[in-house]
Amino acid sequence: MIKAGPEIERDLLKKCVVDLKEVRTEPFTMCIFGGAGDLSRRKLMPGLLHLFGSGELANGFSILSIGMPEMTDNQYRSQIADGIRQFDETPPDEQKLEDFSSHLYCLPARFEEDLKYKELCQRVEDISIPDSQGRINVIFYMAVPAAAVPGIVGKLKKYNLCKGPFNAKIIVEKPFGHDRQSARELNHILIDAFDECQIYRIDHYLSKEPVQNILFFRFSNFIFEQIWNRNYVDNVQITVAEDIGIEHRGAFYEQTGVVRDIVQNHMLQLLGLIAMEPPVGFSADYVRDEKTKVFNSIRIMDAYHVDRFTVRGQYGPGHVNGQSVPGYRQEKNVAPISLQPTFFAAKFNVDNLRWAGVPFYVRTGKRMAKRITEICIQFKQLPLRMFGKPSDALEPNILVFTVQPDEKISLRFCVKYPYSVDELYLVNMVFDYRDMFKMKVPDPYERLLLDCVKGDLSLFVRQDSVEAMWEVVDPIISRWENIALKDFPNYAAGSWGPLEAQALVESDERQWITR
Ligand code: BG6
Repeated sequence: MIKAGPEIERDLLKKCVVDLKEVRTEPFTMCIFGGAGDLSRRKLMPGLLHLFGSGELANGFSILSIGMPEMTDNQYRSQIADGIRQFDETPPDEQKLEDFSSHLYCLPARFEEDLKYKELCQRVEDISIPDSQGRINVIFYMAVPAAAVPGIVGKLKKYNLCKGPFNAKIIVEKPFGHDRQSARELNHILIDAFDECQIYRIDHYLSKEPVQNILFFRFSNFIFEQIWNRNYVDNVQITVAEDIGIEHRGAFYEQTGVVRDIVQNHMLQLLGLIAMEPPVGFSADYVRDEKTKVFNSIRIMDAYHVDRFTVRGQYGPGHVNGQSVPGYRQEKNVAPISLQPTFFAAKFNVDNLRWAGVPFYVRTGKRMAKRITEICIQFKQLPLRMFGKPSDALEPNILVFTVQPDEKISLRFCVKYPYSVDELYLVNMVFDYRDMFKMKVPDPYERLLLDCVKGDLSLFVRQDSVEAMWEVVDPIISRWENIALKDFPNYAAGSWGPLEAQALVESDERQWITR
């Protein structure tokens, strides 16, 4: 049978997806700028060790740390081994750790030193194993403060390391810029040096297993897709609550604040996955196209709407998990009169045919009552009540994606209470990832590192999305910066945030579902 055009394309697409899964990793050298830093020790190295342990990096790899302090390869190896023993959730197999460490190298350098980039080129040649086509695959990982990235990229270009002797990729961490304009400027620097397909922008939320599951759940279950719209959904709620404070990152947070740290990226990405249309296929650009459309459909707030539909907060001293903790202004490297918000809540509107009129309530904060990331889809209620007293409140059906600390999908509905005549009882139908699969949830960094090695961009962020997300939050940030709120701190550590966040949903006669 001769296949029609779109069918052929669909077949090709399927093949492409399958092939990516089957791609074996080729040898590579990862050059980590800031390889002795926190991100590297806490996330990257444990992730790479796991991939090594599971045989994913079987074809050979080297890791070169570039940065300060001055140290030898051996000193670097033992520092990283100590970090892994300290930060890895599972105690490492010491023999594996030793084998892994033998792939690590260190190039002490200040990023602005020209000479070091010549040395870098030589070092990469010395430690790399060519792939099956004789190429040297190099991944430049920017594990450095955002301000250092443009300078490093400029030098990589100057020394012809981006498109020159190596088959190169670059990984950049969020935040991508500090507003839309600076995100564009950063992007100009990146695309002046690399092609878009060489650029991997990390938002680690995208590779959390329960977050990936949102698309699988939505687009492989016929019954839910039918009701995923304004005719059936009453409201959507997204909560990203953290119980930790800003930890040792006072200086970073004073520059960043909650909107740039969480809302512009993690939170809007979750909203995008919930609200997007079905993509043409499951490959990187099809999914990213649909998410970008959602970001472009979020109604941009003017000053009046920012004042009405957003809430900001900053934590004061309080108690979290039974421990007394300081307020934000008492944290190290934070100004004693800092106005930086650590809490955000808002009502967003997604102005498209699917979602017109459905409020998306979102909130996130540091030092909240507990650590929980959850997305709740609350469905509309039946128009009349057949059971119980007419005065009883009706209970809506709610579908909940719990991203962390547990990984679950649950559906809330009513049943008849045993022996009663007509009493309703609320129950939950639950899919629990760990119970079901009897395995731990993969670490997001592990998956992203492997995807980058294999060349799969699906879980990385595209520049147009980055800009569209800035467009949503820029007016909020600038309104907040122009009108300083005087009553900070306005929520106690260990609470659910300022009272105004309750009022935001209560004024619409709704409640926050996640508690
Ligand atoms: C990071 C933020 O991107 O995400 C941190 O910079 C935040 O402030 C962290 O704590 C939360 O990630 P997770 O995976 O612990 O929810």
